[in-house]
Amino acid sequence: MHDFLFKNGELCCENVKISDIARKAGTPFYLYSHKTLSDHFLKIQRAFAPLNPIICFAMKSNGNLNVIKSLVDLGAGIDIVSIGELGKALLAGADPRKIVFASVGKTEEEIAFAIETGILLFNVESEPELAEINRIAAKMNRKVQAALRINPDVPAPTHEYTNTGSLKKKFGIDLRTTRQIFKGQSKYSHVKINGVHIHIGSQITSGAPFVGAIKKVVAFIDSLRAEGIRIEYLDIGGGLGIIYKDENPQTAQAYADKVVPILEKTGLKIIMEPGRFIVGNAGIFVTKVLYIKDNGVKKFVIVDGGMNDLIRPTLYDAYHEIVPVVQTRTGRQKCDVVGPICESGDFFAHDRLLPKVGRNDLLAVMSAGAYGYVMSSNYNVRPRVPEVMVKGNKFKIVKERETFKDLMRGEKIVAW
Ligand code: LLP
Repeated sequence: MHDFLFKNGELCCENVKISDIARKAGTPFYLYSHKTLSDHFLKIQRAFAPLNPIICFAMKSNGNLNVIKSLVDLGAGIDIVSIGELGKALLAGADPRKIVFASVGKTEEEIAFAIETGILLFNVESEPELAEINRIAAKMNRKVQAALRINPDVPAPTHEYTNTGSLKKKFGIDLRTTRQIFKGQSKYSHVKINGVHIHIGSQITSGAPFVGAIKKVVAFIDSLRAEGIRIEYLDIGGGLGIIYKDENPQTAQAYADKVVPILEKTGLKIIMEPGRFIVGNAGIFVTKVLYIKDNGVKKFVIVDGGMNDLIRPTLYDAYHEIVPVVQTRTGRQKCDVVGPICESGDFFAHDRLLPKVGRNDLLAVMSAGAYGYVMSSNYNVRPRVPEVMVKGNKFKIVKERETFKDLMRGEKIVAW
């Protein structure tokens, strides 16, 4: 469900015509619906209400200050992975006591800043990292809380690059080592290890992998508790899949129906880290057709957006629906939708049957709210595009397009 719908043949975001936004913002740009992202957050909040979990939005999926602020205003916490994300979360007004910090490679500077900020939990991904957090906390004369991210070694049916819960991947700590750490926790004088964290992967559309992982981790926690170890928090990660094409993902309620009964019995304080579920379908990427080229073998629709703006199609072979913003022309054509970048991997769609389009038409690349703008780059010296948010019948540019000056900042010709 989302709020990008056609009204009188024109694609609108909530009550605003996208063509009006394009006139003001120029193309390409990212566009977010405040209503869709709020609705998706509230769906999770409602479905999991019996547990009253801390819902930490995974800001790696969308780091726009206004997106974060909108969710923080609804009570969200934030799942961060870097000092930069922590800084932005604080700027958006997030409560440090609702911030959790995962990352396999936290630096000394990041750990110290997170301690100073007073975040809720470090989600620790290795034994040496735990020792380092302990050392830095001792130096700062502080005691911090940590959850151990376990790698439950369960299969997750998703793209190889977004599958994290197997021991062939760099994430988390194996069960045997986790048990040893809990049993020997007295040696970490400045860390209270009182939680367990899992995150098995992203864009997982069925419930079974989550249920399997949660059952496994709950049984593991039971066995630790039987040995007298105290645990307060269980962070079940993110990963809920969304509809890009013809997926039939479980709803938040169906997910909750399966896992709430298991989690309720534990009496643990539950943390969740959804990213894509909240913002994926709350954002689109809008680009303009520059040229049409037919080389006798293929038809190419060449647009002004490129793989530097939205890398998911080429990086994960991800499908994003593409629709003309204004439906004026009749008929369909099979084409490749490609950008201006000097790589054959610069595409949004291959051999896609699209309504006929012509020069200057606007195209909406749907479901681009998660892992869109945040993964964009300046490849080919292209400025990052603006981000726009709609709320009701208003729209605002919430991040400006980069300028040539932005692109050149910090770079200079040196004298030798
Ligand atoms: N928690 C942790 C520890 C994570 O690593 C992630 C995502 C999440 C939560 C949020 O997962 P979500 O609910 O969004 O599935 N760039 C890829 C996705 C990478 C996911 C990274 N970790 C893509 O575009 O599909």
